[in-house]
Amino acid sequence: MINISQPTIGEEELRLVSEAVSSGWVSSQGKFTQEFEELFAAYCGTKYCILTANGTVSLHLAMAVLNIGPGDEVIVPDLTFVATANIVKVAGATPVFADVRKNDWCIDSDDVRRKITPRTKAIIPVHLYGHPADMTALKVIADEFKIPLIEDAAEAHGALHFGQKVGGIGLMGSFSFFGNKIITTGEGGGLTTNSEEIASRARLLRDHGMSTTKRYWYTQIGFNYRMTNMQAALGVAQMKRIDSLIAQRDEILSIYRHYLEPAGFTLNPSLENNRPVNWITCVLIDGIEKTQRDNIQLILKERGIDSRPFFYCLSELPMYQTDSQPVSSHLSKIGINLPTFPGLTEAQIKFISEEFIIAVEKCR
Ligand SMILES: Cc1ncc(COP(=O)(O)O)c(C=O)c1O
Repeated sequence: MINISQPTIGEEELRLVSEAVSSGWVSSQGKFTQEFEELFAAYCGTKYCILTANGTVSLHLAMAVLNIGPGDEVIVPDLTFVATANIVKVAGATPVFADVRKNDWCIDSDDVRRKITPRTKAIIPVHLYGHPADMTALKVIADEFKIPLIEDAAEAHGALHFGQKVGGIGLMGSFSFFGNKIITTGEGGGLTTNSEEIASRARLLRDHGMSTTKRYWYTQIGFNYRMTNMQAALGVAQMKRIDSLIAQRDEILSIYRHYLEPAGFTLNPSLENNRPVNWITCVLIDGIEKTQRDNIQLILKERGIDSRPFFYCLSELPMYQTDSQPVSSHLSKIGINLPTFPGLTEAQIKFISEEFIIAVEKCR
């Protein structure tokens, strides 16, 4: 089976993780947590990075830092991974779904504007599948209404919008280092920011709300959202190859484009003034129903190829059921993700593409 995703783990990863383990610093204290925070912040062009246990709690930490809770609303895209909305709910607030745009599949700033109310306390643009959201337009809205932007950059490490790295454009940026992400720590996350005040509040809340000067004295209710030193060791090793991992993913996308675009398929967006990263290869299959898309996936599986459907619209999920957004709803039914990971060979991509075209023809 050709997997949808695979981490790239080499000698350096093994060396640093075993150094962390044998040092005895297996929990969150130790040199690697600090080193990874510094390396990742520098990479994103931010002053601070606060490592967390995963990308979900890192978003939740952002909610807590801003005191978002009952009675508040947070605008999120309808087409995204479920955690973007769940953390708003977990904070006791209400996620409000905005549609995405046809050209980049990211949150539509015009729809965001329509959905702002006096209760709106934050906007979470998601850089979906590695393409930056239109942060320029969103910043205009954020400044006008004084609403903070929290970038969900879980899928977009290294992507650029007008030359600026994602995660460093809004008030905060949230990343995931899950095993299928551009760099991984197994599980893991990070919150980036340029604000010293936000960084120190995030650190406090990440560590149970414990005073930094008085041990076991808690000034507010917090969490244990820390990353371990062992995971951070993996992160430090991955940072040494992040640019190469991104370049290899670019190459994979260009080979997929070579085989699939002449056959009429639309692949990952790439708008002017943006430098998207290919977290995962996306293909739209125009003119099909959702059931046909599911059948295409079954045929691919029989041929030894793993694939993923696009995310379901969050507004269509049982716990959120509300008016679904037309562009999000359409894309979610016709989109499919194909295997994407450094090490995937040109011959494999050719095979996947040919089998994909055959499967689509069979199901149309
Ligand atoms: C857009 C988005 N947000 C948040 C997350 C949550 O990250 P994690 O799986 O590390 O909790 C993911 C993870 O896949 C994601 O894709």
